[in-house]
Amino acid sequence: MSHAVSAYDFRDKPADYARLRAELASLLAGEHDLIANAANTSALLFGALPEVNWAGFYFLRGAELVVGPFQGKPACVRIALGRGVCGTAALERRTLVVPDVSAFAGHIACDSASRSEVVVPLVRGSELLGVLDIDSPQLQRFDSADARGLEELARLFVASTTGAIPAAG
Ligand code: SME
Repeated sequence: MSHAVSAYDFRDKPADYARLRAELASLLAGEHDLIANAANTSALLFGALPEVNWAGFYFLRGAELVVGPFQGKPACVRIALGRGVCGTAALERRTLVVPDVSAFAGHIACDSASRSEVVVPLVRGSELLGVLDIDSPQLQRFDSADARGLEELARLFVASTTGAIPAAG
């Protein structure tokens, strides 16, 4: 089965994030494999979000984050908890919107084209699974509407790993 990513312009962010959420739910329905769902989620987001040069996952392994499925240029593999934007969002378990990565002390530059970034922690019950990380070559690409929209998508991804999204039909 092939899956065509719909066109989004994100002029109405809440509406387009709602459509993207429905598309992600149908993509993940009936599958709970973490790697498979992370791979398809990153491919969907990379294709759907305008002005994005990296979209993907880091998963918690012991006291560090290890890169998971993503779309974009090859990235740093391991990030200690508390380091960089990803490690800070993971440690503090809160979404970080960074309008200018050069102004974030400790930002880890994987792709020199990245100018702004948003990182959403992935929490299942009391367990930190990792983070969803999106980078843009544009300054101030992400705002609070993106943060809220991506948090909803991250929740859906986490729910899928528990088999909470039943197969359609
Ligand atoms: N910039 C991130 C590192 C991961 S890459 O952007 C893919 C950070 O500072 O944690």
